[in-house]
Amino acid sequence: MKTTVAFCQEPNILTPLPPRISQILEMPPQEQLLEVCGWLRTRRDSGSLSFLELNDGSSLQSLQILVENSMEGWDHLHKQLTTGAALCVRGQLIPSPAKGQQVELRAQGIRILGEADSASYPLQKKRHSFEFLRTITHLRPRTNALGAVARIRNLLCCAIHHFFQEQGFIQVHTPVITTSDCEGAGEMFTIGTQQSTHGPQPGHEPPRAGKDFFGQPAGLTVSGQLQAEVYALSHGRVYTFGPTFRAENSNTTRHLAEFWMLEPEMAFCDLAGNMQLAEALLRFLLNTLLQKGGTDLALFDRHIEQGLMDKLHHCANQSFHHLRYSEAIAELHKAGRTFDHPVRWGMDLQAEHERFLCEELVQGPLFVTNYPATIKPFYMRLDDMRPDEGLAEGETVAAMDLLVPGIGELIGGSQREERLGVLQARMSAAGLDLAEYGWYLDLRRYGSVPHAGFGLGFERLVQFCTGLANIREAIPFPRSPGQAPC
Ligand code: 4AD
Ligand code: MG
Repeated sequence: MKTTVAFCQEPNILTPLPPRISQILEMPPQEQLLEVCGWLRTRRDSGSLSFLELNDGSSLQSLQILVENSMEGWDHLHKQLTTGAALCVRGQLIPSPAKGQQVELRAQGIRILGEADSASYPLQKKRHSFEFLRTITHLRPRTNALGAVARIRNLLCCAIHHFFQEQGFIQVHTPVITTSDCEGAGEMFTIGTQQSTHGPQPGHEPPRAGKDFFGQPAGLTVSGQLQAEVYALSHGRVYTFGPTFRAENSNTTRHLAEFWMLEPEMAFCDLAGNMQLAEALLRFLLNTLLQKGGTDLALFDRHIEQGLMDKLHHCANQSFHHLRYSEAIAELHKAGRTFDHPVRWGMDLQAEHERFLCEELVQGPLFVTNYPATIKPFYMRLDDMRPDEGLAEGETVAAMDLLVPGIGELIGGSQREERLGVLQARMSAAGLDLAEYGWYLDLRRYGSVPHAGFGLGFERLVQFCTGLANIREAIPFPRSPGQAPC
C-alpha cells in the first residue's frame, strides 16, 4: 500500500468542514479518499497494524482507523497517537471485517492536530465514576455516557421547538434579569455590580453601585412565566425555554441552582387544556426520542437503567392518570405505610409521596391537581367550592403537577387567576407590593382572558429519559451549592 505523510504539511485541511463520523459510518465503501477529524479514544497494536478508535462527538460509535506501521513517518507518529490526541486522518473507506461496523478507514496519512500527554490525561480506558467525571467537567463530554447525554439533550431540545412550532406557538425570549420573584419562595439570586478596586476608568462614569443599578433590587429569574403571560395575552400561544435560577440550598439529586425550564403559556385555555398539552408534549418527546435516540438510548438502557426503553415506550403510549390532591391524600392514607413526612391534608407532597403515587399506585405518569391554595403561588386561579369534598370556595387552586416514575415532579403548572379583584386580594395576602406588579395587574385590567401554562424542568426530563441517578449529569455545567465548575 502506498502510504504518505505528505498530507501532514497541507495547510488547508480544515476547509471545507470534514464529514462527521456519524455520516461516514453510513457511507458505502469507496475509492475516493476521505478526511476525518476527531479525538483518539483507544489504540490497539497487533503485529504490523494499529487500530485506532476515532470519535468526533457526532455519534456514540467511533470510526475504526486501520494504520499500517509501514506508513512513512510512523516511528515518530506512533508516539503521538495517545488517548485524547486530536487527529485528522486521510484514508480510504473499506469494508470492515470487524463485528458491529460496516466500514473502517484505511489510513494513508495522519496529522496530529493536538497531542495529549498520556501520563497526565485524566480519561483512561477504564470506566470512570460520575463523581470523578464531575471533577473534570471540561473533559467529561468526551466520555461515552456524557457524550450521549449531550446528544440526547440536543435531540429533545429540537423536538421541543418542533412540537411548539407545529402547534402554532411563538417562542418568546423572556429576561434572565428580573425584578419580580414569580414563585415568591425567596429563592432568587440577587445581582449587583462589582466595584472595581482601581476606581472608574478614565473618561468613564463609575458603574451605579451594587443593587442600585436598575433603580430597584433585581435578580436572576426563577421562572419566565410572568413575562410569558404578557405575550400569551398578545400572541395567544407562546413558550419560553431558557436558563432558570434558584438559590435553594438543597443538595439533592433532583435540584440544580441553574437549570433549563420550558414554559408554554396559552390564552383561552383552562386547567384541562393545559394538561392535555403537557401530555401531548411529553408523549411526542418520548416517541421522537425512541425513534431517533438509537444507540445513545440503548447505552443508557444497557448500563444505567435496565428496561429504560420499555419504560419510555410504556409512558409514550398510555393515557396519563389524574388524581385530585384530596384523592391523592386519601390514597396515601390508604397505603397504610409510614412515610418520613406524615400525611395530612394541607401539606405539600414530598418526593416520597410523589414517588409512591406514580411508581406504585398508578405505575406511570400522573397528574395531581387542585392543591391547597396555601401551598401554591399567588398567580394560580382559585377554585370554586367543592361541597362533595368539603372544600370551600378558594380553598384549592387550579394547579397541576405531573409526576413521573423515578423522578417525581417533572412539570408544575396551573390555570392563572384572570380576575383582577381576586388576584389583588391574593397578592396582598401573600405580602406582595401591588404597585410593583402594576404591569401584571394591567393584564387583568385590559382584555383579561382565561389562560394557563406550565413549567417543565428540562434536566429532570433528561434524567427521566436516560435513567441518570443524579441531575448533575443531565446538564453540561452543573451549578449547585458549593459547586460551579468552569
Ligand atoms: O414547579 P415550578 O417551581 O413551577 C414554576 O416555576 C412555574 N412558574 C412554571 C409555570 O407555570 N410556567 O418549576 C417547574 C419545574 C418543576 O416541575 C421541576 O421539573 C423544575 O421546574 N425545577 C427544577 N429543576 C431542577 N432544579 C431545580 N432547583 C428545580 N426547581 C424546579
Ligand atoms: Mg412545582
